[in-house]
Amino acid sequence: MNIRCATPDDLMNMQHCNLLCLPENYQMKYYFYHGLSWPQLSYVAEDHSGKIVGYVLAKIREEDPEDSVPHGHITSLAVKRSHRRLGLAQKLMDQASRAMVENFNAQYVSLHVRKSNRAALHLYTENLKFSISEIEPKYYADGEDAYAMKRDLTEFREKYGLKSDASVDQLEFSSSQELQKLKNQD
Ligand SMILES: CC(C)(COP(=O)(O)OP(=O)(O)OC[C@H]1O[C@@H](n2cnc3c(N)ncnc32)[C@H](O)[C@@H]1OP(=O)(O)O)[C@@H](O)C(=O)NCCC(=O)NCCS
Repeated sequence: MNIRCATPDDLMNMQHCNLLCLPENYQMKYYFYHGLSWPQLSYVAEDHSGKIVGYVLAKIREEDPEDSVPHGHITSLAVKRSHRRLGLAQKLMDQASRAMVENFNAQYVSLHVRKSNRAALHLYTENLKFSISEIEPKYYADGEDAYAMKRDLTEFREKYGLKSDASVDQLEFSSSQELQKLKNQD
């Protein structure tokens, strides 16, 4: 099993994996939005034959009026049933978090999870040290509430001796008209 940074060629397979694993699905352009804006942040897990068996789709939250601190956000995480409980999700999350710190000086990472998602909640609270920041009522399309969760990346940064070195690549991308159009649809 191999974990590596996602490339544009992986995006369709990530979408396929998402459709198999989660009710929250996205159009292909949303995957491209992530891949083009933050090419360092999304990761895939592949099996020995190069087949994608898991992914994490991640971004940096910009222009958040409530929070000027740079932080990452996990848009989606999934591992195919056949490859669960092998530590893949934990590794994918750690890689994405590390890239957020190294490339964007992220101070914390956030996400949403269904209140009923026991497996993911266990992963986030017990293994990855996320904590619940708030409850968002009826966050999901079917009316289920979400836990908004955060993981402070200070400890993570110290553990791996990471430097804070915000990348300028994203600024070049963000000036592209095409990308701006996609952003407006976010
Ligand atoms: C949640 C999910 C991503 C976990 O993927 P995974 O690769 O199996 O997770 P890992 O092997 O890295 O698990 C690490 C730890 O998470 C916890 N965990 C994972 N699955 C669990 C389960 N079914 N029940 C309880 N705890 C679980 C355990 O603490 C586990 O450590 P352990 O195996 O040493 O006990 C996977 O179950 C999945 O894709 N589910 C459907 C999609 C989804 O819910 N995504 C998250 C949306 S917010």
